[in-house]
Amino acid sequence: MNPFRFHNPTVLYYGKGQIEQHLAAEVTRYGKRVLLVYGGGSIKRNGLYDKVMGILTEAGVQVFELPGVEPNPRLTTVYRGIQICRYEQIDLILAVGGGSVIDCAKGIAMGAKFDGDIWDVYQRKAKANDALPLGAILTLSATGSEMNAGGVITNWETKEKLGGSAPPHTFPRFSFCDPENTFTVPRDQTVYGTCDMLAHCFEHYFHPTHNTPLQQRLIESVIATIIETAPKALENPTDYDARETLMYCSTMALNGMINMGVEGDWACHAIEHEISAIYDIPHGGGLAIVFPNWMDYVVDAGPERFAQLGTRVFGIDPAGKSVDELAREAIAEVRAFFRRIGAPQRLADYGIGDEHIERMAEQAVRFRKLGSFKKLDKEDVAEILRRCL
Ligand code: NZQ
Ligand code: ZN
Repeated sequence: MNPFRFHNPTVLYYGKGQIEQHLAAEVTRYGKRVLLVYGGGSIKRNGLYDKVMGILTEAGVQVFELPGVEPNPRLTTVYRGIQICRYEQIDLILAVGGGSVIDCAKGIAMGAKFDGDIWDVYQRKAKANDALPLGAILTLSATGSEMNAGGVITNWETKEKLGGSAPPHTFPRFSFCDPENTFTVPRDQTVYGTCDMLAHCFEHYFHPTHNTPLQQRLIESVIATIIETAPKALENPTDYDARETLMYCSTMALNGMINMGVEGDWACHAIEHEISAIYDIPHGGGLAIVFPNWMDYVVDAGPERFAQLGTRVFGIDPAGKSVDELAREAIAEVRAFFRRIGAPQRLADYGIGDEHIERMAEQAVRFRKLGSFKKLDKEDVAEILRRCL
């Protein structure tokens, strides 16, 4: 393992009834002026907005609102939120939504306490060392943003999508995860969320770090659970047990618990962010396209890990097969799973051609070469993208 320090300060409330019982106390701990950040209206349609407003009003909280956070949240929206926080002297930001809403809230929280343009932090030109407190009510199982410090913001003018954080300040102080709040997530978003949480597991699983047997088994069990559970949630969106398990999988996949001391790869995420930066496609959809093609491209750097995934998670019988054969079968299983749940297969499924491949490849490696399992330069990234067409 690599040496590591682990600190995750998010207070997690999981399950039914927690919002009713604990939200008012958690919010008012930080003050009575709250910025409620939410998306395009799903929380108004499913009743969550009314429920939260009822609880906050009864607790004497003065609520200011930032609605309309976009999927792939935009820097301009972060700027709007920062202005409200400063002008209204906000005590706490409450994000109610999926990863985009929570990420936007993280950007606002950092920006409200940052002297300068917060985009500099995402561009790695500056560091944020503080943030307004933020809390979250999660409505979509996917990113793990409810229990990590990172957030991804798109600058639509420059067509850049970049991650930023200021741990420990950008960890949500608390997060409410009630599976019932994901009952209304549409089929396509459930598919994308599944692809994203699986992708987080893969990013942790493929790495060169020595001696990580427990990490590998923890990750394998999350992958196996997602594969077993996602089809149930897709078949019956109000299956509480399936939604609950998926929610827990998504939190565990990116809260730092299953990958301590592991470097991780993260090339596929960087490549996907370049695709969404230009084409504004859903993150999980992009990952479902990129990951199997990345796997094909890098498999020779460590076929044993792929073979292990195949035998332990997909139950492939190793009898009479070489490591290379097992590795190829494992990749075929990953592809087959994505296909089975109806994830996109090719960039063409989003009407994307080869027009910006060079630019995306160049941008993807602008800070450094990508990946740890296999280091990728611009040409490698361009080739992977061509295979995604
Ligand atoms: O905007 P509303 O109306 O709320 O609708 C949303 C949105 O259209 C809808 N939705 C969410 N909860 C719902 C619901 N619809 C009905 N019922 C509900 N309960 O779903 C759509 C997508 O929401 P979004 O928040 O964009 O999805 P997701 O949670 O997948 O977040 C994606 C964003 O997170 C970033 C991605 O890059 C992308 O920008 N990521 C954040 C990470 C992090 N902070 O750790 C890591 C990830 O790897 C990822 O990069
Ligand atoms: Zn992701």
